[in-house]
Amino acid sequence: MRQIAWTTDLAVGIEEVDLDHQRLVSCLNDVFQATQSANADKPSTTLHDALNALRQQSKEHFAHEEGVMRRIAYPALAHHRILHEDLMTALNVLIDQFDQNAKNTLSSDTMQSLEVWLLHHIEYEDKKIGAHTGATA
Ligand SMILES: [Fe+2]
Ligand SMILES: [Fe+2]
Repeated sequence: MRQIAWTTDLAVGIEEVDLDHQRLVSCLNDVFQATQSANADKPSTTLHDALNALRQQSKEHFAHEEGVMRRIAYPALAHHRILHEDLMTALNVLIDQFDQNAKNTLSSDTMQSLEVWLLHHIEYEDKKIGAHTGATA
């Protein structure tokens, strides 16, 4: 089964942000776990709920992280907010597709894209916030 292991490679060096990211990784792992119990014959409430939990946690995290950026006067806040909006749009599209799909499960391509969706943003964008505070080398 696909699972993401949290490693220090994903740390941005701001504790409250890293804790949020660990929660998001955990939500995503719950989604992957829920695909195990899903099958074509019965709707997967568990998977539906796990996707919605990921969406809710993402929304809260993005708002929290934008607050952190404001607090530290992060210069690229406006751009970063747009990236968050794009991430929420992509997640909403994916969840809508899932809800309309009779298969009630996620393809491995979709799971891969969810993993990239989260990890790429943390590794390439959120780390810049930590670098701005001087928290990371
Ligand atoms: Fe971010
Ligand atoms: Fe983040």
